[in-house]
Amino acid sequence: MKLAWAVEIAGTGASVPEQVVTNEDFARRLDTSDEWIVQRTGIRERRIVGPNESTLRLATEAGRGALASAGVTPDQIDLIICATITPEHILPATSCELQHALGCHPVVPAFDLQAACSGFIYGVITAAQYVITGMAHNVLVVGVECLTRITDMEDRSTAVLFGDGAGAAIVRASRDPQRSLLAGRLGTDGSRAMLIWVPAGGSREPASARTVAERLHYMRMRGREVYKFAVTKMEEIIAGTVADAGLTVDDLALVVPHQSNLRIINSACRRLGVPQEKVVINIERYGNTSAASVPVALHEAWEEGRIKPGDYVLLVAIGGGLTWATALLRV
Ligand code: ACO
Repeated sequence: MKLAWAVEIAGTGASVPEQVVTNEDFARRLDTSDEWIVQRTGIRERRIVGPNESTLRLATEAGRGALASAGVTPDQIDLIICATITPEHILPATSCELQHALGCHPVVPAFDLQAACSGFIYGVITAAQYVITGMAHNVLVVGVECLTRITDMEDRSTAVLFGDGAGAAIVRASRDPQRSLLAGRLGTDGSRAMLIWVPAGGSREPASARTVAERLHYMRMRGREVYKFAVTKMEEIIAGTVADAGLTVDDLALVVPHQSNLRIINSACRRLGVPQEKVVINIERYGNTSAASVPVALHEAWEEGRIKPGDYVLLVAIGGGLTWATALLRV
C-alpha cells in the first residue's frame, strides 16, 4: 500500500546476550553437523540468554540505545510498542514493565504486539499511524525475543535455528521533508497458523505436569512448508511494496530482511535482481531471532554506515501466523 507518510526512524538500538553457542556446540550433543546447519540455513552461531537474562533486560538495553541515538529522553516517549512472542511474563505485557524500567512517565500507553518474526515491522507501521494521527510524538518500538526459552534443545530440527536478542527504534514525525514511510504491507494467512506453534501454555491446553512431560511448551515448526511459502511470499511483497511506492527494485539502497534462512533471502533477492551487497545479512552470527531480527540488522547496518541520507531502505519479514510485513522508508 502506498503511504507517503512524513514519519521517520530517528534512532536505533540493539542488545544480544553475551553467551555464544556455535554449531559445533550443538554437534557435540545432537545428531547434526556444522556443515548441515551452514548449508541449509547460513547459521554459524547464535546468542543464547543465561539463567539471569531475559526478555525485559534485552528490551531495556535496546530501548536505551534507541533513545540515545535519537537524542530522545525517556520522558519524551509517549507510546511503547513491544513486539514479542516470548514476553517476560504472560501477564503483564512486557511493554508495561519496559515503561517502568526505562523511566518513562507512568501514564504512557504501552502494549505488546504478537506477530512473530513480522512483529517489529507491524510495530513500526502501527507506530507511524499514531504519529500521523497526532496521538503520539515519539514512539518506542522494540522487537525482542528469548526464543531459546521456548525451543526444544533436544530437537535438532528446531534447536539449531533460533537465538535471542532485541532491537529497537524511535518512530516520530520526520524533521526533514525527504524522510518518509513511502509504502508498507501487512498480511496474515491464518489457515497456516499451525505451521509454527507452541501447543501448550495457552487457554486451549493450560500448563500441567503432563504438558511439561510431553514437551508441549516448546515451539513446533513444519519447516519445509514454511520455507516454500516464505520464498514465494518474500519475492512477492518486496516487488509489490516497491511498486506501491512508484519505484523499482534498482532504486533500493538496502534490503533488511528477517534472518530466518540465508537460502530464503538469497533465492528471493536473486529472482528480483537485488545484488547481495544491498542485502543486510547477519544470520551467521545470530540465527533466527524472530521479532528482534529486523531491528538488530537495521541497527547494525546504520552503525556500519551502510545507510546514507536519502537512501531507500526496505524492511521485510515473514513468520509465524503466518504473518508478513514490509516497510519502505526514505531515510
Ligand atoms: N541436522 C541434520 N539434519 C537435520 C537437522 C539438523 N539440525 N534438522 C533436520 N534434519 C534432517 C531432517 O530430519 C531431514 O532428514 P530426512 O530427509 O532423513 O527426513 C532432512 O534433514 C531435511 O529436512 P528438511 O526439514 O526438509 O530440511 P530443509 O532443507 O527444509 O531445512 C529448515 C529445514 C532450515 C527448517 C528450513 O525448512 C527453513 O528454514 N524453513 C523456514 C523457517 C522459517 O522461515 N521460519 C519462519 C520464522 S520462525 C518464527 O516465526 C518463530
